[in-house]
Amino acid sequence: MPQTTLESTMSHARFPAVAAVATLAVAAASLAAPVRAQDAAEGAKKAAMCIGCHGIPGYQASFPEIHKVPMISGQSGAYIAAALGAYKKGERKHPTMHGIAASLSEKDIADLAAYYEKNLRSPIKTVAATSAVQPSAVVAALLAKGACASCHGAGFDKPISPAYPKIAGQHADYLYLALRSYGPTAHTPAGRANPIMGAQVKPFTRAELKAMADYLASLPGELQTVPQSRFR
Ligand code: HEC
Ligand code: HEC
Repeated sequence: MPQTTLESTMSHARFPAVAAVATLAVAAASLAAPVRAQDAAEGAKKAAMCIGCHGIPGYQASFPEIHKVPMISGQSGAYIAAALGAYKKGERKHPTMHGIAASLSEKDIADLAAYYEKNLRSPIKTVAATSAVQPSAVVAALLAKGACASCHGAGFDKPISPAYPKIAGQHADYLYLALRSYGPTAHTPAGRANPIMGAQVKPFTRAELKAMADYLASLPGELQTVPQSRFR
């Protein structure tokens, strides 16, 4: 984003005052509204190559084991962009998503992130904190030990940074697979190199990760699978 601003400023080099004002306006706009409707509309067209998996409710993937494809509609745009960047660079080793992400430009990634963040079913499912199931004492202790809510937020649906994922209500089998992917590579062939989560999952056994995944999946959340684009 800052680079784009810089480049567009340079193209206005003959009008320094105009350029400075334009730069400020762009910076303010991007702070206030990180997701622009224009990007989302572009993203809607590009999502044609995603809906075969992410737009079919309950669609199953078979690598490295059978699990449901993650819900990405309603996920934070900054996290979607970070995840796509990690697949592209190979920090997330999933072969299919690596192949897809490698074919995307930075602009494609920004558009798709904007699109999926906003492409929700209408009316948007509102989440009542009170409807959350209480964890068992065992799961509550695991979540406290990992301080999971300190990053993933209240109800695991309000992360403290938009670059962190919403995980409430995500598919249980996917969450379990994702958690194992951060562990030692022996856990799953499709490893994830993210150092934050790598440190988080270390103290837990696979059974404990599964217990947390099952609980998180049972929570009400904003994540959805939306077959039809709202932007068409
Ligand atoms: C062939 C099926 C398939 C297609 C097509 C596909 N995906 Fe995926 N996607 C997956 C699977 C399976 C995963 C889980 C990978 C893993 O375990 O890390 C995934 C993961 C993701 C994630 C990470 C979700 C999370 O919670 O971390 C994002 C973001 C994503 N895909 C976006 C896209 C976008 C955008 C497109 C289109 C440009 C796309 N995918 C196309 C199957 C697919
Ligand atoms: C210090 C902040 C922090 C803490 C504490 C934390 N997480 Fe995370 N979590 C993250 C970040 C950042 C990511 C995204 C990593 C990436 O890009 O792959 C993530 C990713 C995840 C994912 C993958 C989501 C997806 O859609 O693929 C799951 C599941 C998860 N965390 C669960 C947990 C659990 C369970 C705990 C507690 C044991 C926990 N996290 C503690 C920051 C944190």
